[in-house]
Amino acid sequence: MVYSLSPINTKDYDGTLAILYGNEVSDRNLPLAKREMEYLKRRREEDPEAIVRFDRLPGHLFIVNFDAEKPAPICQEHLRRSAAKLVAMLADLKADSLAVTAEGSLPEEMVAFLEGLFLADYRFDRYKAKPAHHIATVTVDQAFLSQQELDTNQRLWNRLFWCREWVNTPVADLNAAEFAEQLETIARDMDHVECTVFNKKQIESLRMGGLLAVNRGSVDEPRFVVLEYKPAVAINAKPIALVGKGIMYDTGGLNIKPDDYMQEMKSDMAGAATMASVLFTAADNQLPIHLVALLPMTDNRPGFNAYAADDILTMYDGTTVEVVNTDAEGRLILADAIAYAVDKYDPELLIDAATLTGAAVRAISTFGIAAMQQNAANPLGLLKVVGEQVYERIVEFPFWDEYDELIKSDMADVKNCGTAQAGTITAGKFLARFAKQTPYIHLDIAGVAYFTKPQHYYAVGASGYGIRLLYAFLQTYDLMKK
Ligand code: BES
Ligand code: ZN
Ligand code: ZN
Repeated sequence: MVYSLSPINTKDYDGTLAILYGNEVSDRNLPLAKREMEYLKRRREEDPEAIVRFDRLPGHLFIVNFDAEKPAPICQEHLRRSAAKLVAMLADLKADSLAVTAEGSLPEEMVAFLEGLFLADYRFDRYKAKPAHHIATVTVDQAFLSQQELDTNQRLWNRLFWCREWVNTPVADLNAAEFAEQLETIARDMDHVECTVFNKKQIESLRMGGLLAVNRGSVDEPRFVVLEYKPAVAINAKPIALVGKGIMYDTGGLNIKPDDYMQEMKSDMAGAATMASVLFTAADNQLPIHLVALLPMTDNRPGFNAYAADDILTMYDGTTVEVVNTDAEGRLILADAIAYAVDKYDPELLIDAATLTGAAVRAISTFGIAAMQQNAANPLGLLKVVGEQVYERIVEFPFWDEYDELIKSDMADVKNCGTAQAGTITAGKFLARFAKQTPYIHLDIAGVAYFTKPQHYYAVGASGYGIRLLYAFLQTYDLMKK
């Protein structure tokens, strides 16, 4: 989908046109006859948020109603969802171009609608002989936003698509080495972005016992990728570290996943894909903020030499870990990456994103992110506010000391999982000890990274959920420091 800006004259527009129409605005400028206006009013009375279609063959006119009285984030989310409905209607009509304008609406509402259109138009159709229907061009009324605003948003949405592509691609076509190579290639062409890729030998010399253990059952080598975005002027003296879980495929290892629990586990590297996309967007849009993304990558398999329960691992920072279950592998590779980030970068804030626990999905379903924090109450507060605004919501789980008891080990410093209770929190607690005193936020994205049913502007598959959240957080990060 390609966006362009241009003036739009609604009166004699002969293509397919959508007009966003809030209440509290005059209807003088709607290109409707009196009878049509009455029809629209009736439809709005039935449903104030209806999409009402008028045929203007060969084109169609859509009035996209919304309730401007509602709080801005709700209104914007509604417009994203309406945009997704419109995408489906356009597919039925086989329309491949669209113009968008609005009556009295705000630029933010226009951006939300365009975001919904763009995100909903995505399909993972690279492997299909016949690609899905797509909207090729969208002309946006230039009265509502500048070229620069459009470009800034478009860069974010494009990076979000990259994330979806990586996550949707099966491990057979994207293993750790291939993913690392792609990130390196992208970084090479970017200003102020450095990419360092550590191979197995180098990971061995770093003594990353967690990443190496998880990799032992695999025929593919692990990678540890460090991306750094360092703009000439930054508002932060010490970097923000973004750590992402990069399990290219999670079979469970020797504690193999039963039945259909293995399905969708190609998405277990969504955390890494998310963090890479966030860093690249920040660099594309030249945010004045110093970032480092740390991405440990491997698949988790039951090979001949696979790590096993009862193994005791020595991690990057010297902590020993008793393995209780090889399916709790994400925290092992993340622990090394977190400890490395603290050791080498002394970040002012460390955030990780990980498809870490099924328990997070059971707790809050697919409607948001489970978050925890240690020494980072203020940043998490900001993240929550931003989450409501962009409608990628987070809920904070407790991080009480008592939970540490649940992962105490008889054999080592800590064990890699606790009992059946509070599995999301004990996973977070395991990671938090590697962050030490560094302000730390843990985001468990297991429920939202990958959808098995289409919802709103998410097709089946990878969502890219969390990228808009973290990008918006970085954009407003300086507010917190004031
Ligand atoms: N990758 C999974 C978590 C997951 C489950 C993500 C469902 C997305 C959807 C993770 O590595 C895992 O297997 N976790 C175990 C931990 C348990 C063994 C302590 C889980 O949640 O069952
Ligand atoms: Zn697992
Ligand atoms: Zn996993």
